[in-house]
Amino acid sequence: MTVNTIVTPDIEVAVAALARGRLVAFPTETVYGLGADAADGAAVAAVFAAKGRPPGHPLIVHLASADDVAEWARLDGDLAVHVKLLAEAFWPGPLTVVLPRTAKAADETVGGRPTIGLRVPDHPVALELLRRFGGGVAAPSANRFGRVSPTTAAHVVDDLGGLVDVVLDGGATTVGIESTIVEVLGDEPILLRPGAVTKADLERALGVEVLDGSGGEARAPGMLRSHYAPDAAVELVEPDQLASEISVIPSAEVDRIGIVAPVVVDHQPSWHLPSDADGYGRELYRALREADRLGVERLLVVPPTEGRLLAAVVDRLTKAAARPERP
Ligand code: TXA
Ligand code: MG
Repeated sequence: MTVNTIVTPDIEVAVAALARGRLVAFPTETVYGLGADAADGAAVAAVFAAKGRPPGHPLIVHLASADDVAEWARLDGDLAVHVKLLAEAFWPGPLTVVLPRTAKAADETVGGRPTIGLRVPDHPVALELLRRFGGGVAAPSANRFGRVSPTTAAHVVDDLGGLVDVVLDGGATTVGIESTIVEVLGDEPILLRPGAVTKADLERALGVEVLDGSGGEARAPGMLRSHYAPDAAVELVEPDQLASEISVIPSAEVDRIGIVAPVVVDHQPSWHLPSDADGYGRELYRALREADRLGVERLLVVPPTEGRLLAAVVDRLTKAAARPERP
């Protein structure tokens, strides 16, 4: 179905669309989300259709406040304590917590699972949208299935123009990499996806060890490696190998080979990203999208070396480089 996509900074337009069961792409501090009323199964089904995402992949439910968690998740035993500690330390912020669910979310939202991923985003526009809407907003990243996450409203329009009712424009996102996902079902929290909240941050807040489950596709369905890959084939390169890699690029192939690196290189097309992982992460997806737009076929990527977002950036780059066939 094709719709007339409205791009606007007007939160009221977005609230009205959500209330009518329509799709609203909105900014968060991580990436833009493709939102629908999390309690409305038909609206959530439209999210899957617009993205081209197979059903059964659970969506993250965005809330205005940690006070709303008890409506969506069952906080038996120690879970209430764990959630309180996480919320105090990291919300609003780039952390999604997977918990046992209540019946509040539509089955479509959680892909028929007994659990639900919840997050209070740290973005003034997202928070205002959620407050005025007054419910939970189910939202995966606002890209077509198999493309990198959007960090600007223009990226969303490129992917989903004509498929989403409203794109709420709140400028470029500040983190640029998807949220950390931690599963908290029992005594041993499991990190499902690294992000700006690190494993060490989680352990400090909870006072217990957090297991690393970020390699497990079964636990966090929808985290296929190809989710984080551009069309170009990504190859990770060590910093000290870059010059020799560039020197062997045949002149006939210069335009088809791109370089993303935290240093200035003597090659075009190239993207010089900041050397610290936070700045690098903020700009990475824009660079990958530009490379695709230029028709780059091979992308040589030198990762950053330090910073809070290092594990998250290396995780996404490693997945992009290990990409299997596209879906
Ligand atoms: O930063 C973010 O997390 C962004 C913004 C919009 O909040 N959202 C995002 O969603 O990146 P995305 O496209 O990665 O999809 C949500 C992911 C799924 O791939 C799934 O692995 C995980 O969240 N997830 C959601 N609910 C889950 C659950 N109940 N159990 C396990 N994993 C879950
Ligand atoms: Mg995604």
